[in-house]
Amino acid sequence: MKKKLLSLLLSAVMVASMVMVPVMADETEGAAEDAAAAVDLEGVDVENATIGISIYQFADNFMTLYRTELVRYLTEDLGFKEENIQVQDGKNDQAEQTNQINNFITAGVDVMILNLVQSSSAPQVTDMCNEAGIPVVYINRQPTTEESDRWVAEGIKATYVGADATQSGTYQGEEILETPNGGDINGDGKVSYIMVQGDPENIDAQQRTEYSIKALTDAGVEVEELLLQRGDWDQAKGQQIVQDALTQFGDQIEVVFCNNDAMALGALQAIQAAGRTVNEDIYLVGVDALTEAVQDIVDGTFTGTVFNDHFGQAQAAAQMAVKYLKGEDVDPINMVDYVKVTADNAAEILEKIQ
Ligand code: GAL
Repeated sequence: MKKKLLSLLLSAVMVASMVMVPVMADETEGAAEDAAAAVDLEGVDVENATIGISIYQFADNFMTLYRTELVRYLTEDLGFKEENIQVQDGKNDQAEQTNQINNFITAGVDVMILNLVQSSSAPQVTDMCNEAGIPVVYINRQPTTEESDRWVAEGIKATYVGADATQSGTYQGEEILETPNGGDINGDGKVSYIMVQGDPENIDAQQRTEYSIKALTDAGVEVEELLLQRGDWDQAKGQQIVQDALTQFGDQIEVVFCNNDAMALGALQAIQAAGRTVNEDIYLVGVDALTEAVQDIVDGTFTGTVFNDHFGQAQAAAQMAVKYLKGEDVDPINMVDYVKVTADNAAEILEKIQ
């Protein structure tokens, strides 16, 4: 029930282009039921509609939360049949995922929801789906503007649901600016940091890397990048990178920026193993608001994160699919807001995501 309530509260922050009915903070079961019912399913054959979903890789913490909510919402709240929803693991292999998409086409699914392994494959995948007459909702990995402009120009039934990664990066930078010493722990007039990046093919990784630092420099803060290394969104890689960086740079490191929480949780293991103390002699920020990371903020062992609203995004993606099933057109880009998470609101966020 709690999850349902959260999704409603979060829905309220979604942009105007959504079909969502903004139910404000009315924490009653009745309101939750009403909002699910408020998605207009008239004209949709929910008993028989088939949906093909492929996730870039099941082994991704954040996309696992997203996938779980997507299937829950489609079945429990909207009433689609579990047996009519196929969910495939792209195994981080575009060729494998393209095969899955071809199988969806052969099976004649009514709509697809795709988290591409490589967003650069969007033009090819879009053309495959379009030729087969199957609408596609892309999630999480945003195709280029050139590609989404093409959908509009050519009247192709394709859309993207995601979150503006520049916002998450900016929030990370602000979280450091809001610390007592603005990130300059040793008082030498500059913030020395390491950056643990996700898969650099993703806009999320590119923009979080850029905008977290831009928030500091825009505020007139001098920065020094000691290291920038890709950790591919992976906890074990995050741990290794930060362990090596702490050996190489030691006390010089004042801030560890990670493009996501999984890598930041790995970083925290390395930081603690090196005898350093977060929020005392080093700062640590991530993105996603994984439960463990938010708990660490409550406990004071993590500086901040940014809630990547998988409830809002999963529900918006499902609602775009519904619109396509009804034969309606949808906007090409649909963004859901991020939420800054620091010691000020971590307990409250934890309550909502658990
Ligand atoms: C990001 C998320 C990462 C990872 C990535 C996959 O939005 O923050 O943790 O899941 O998507 O594309």
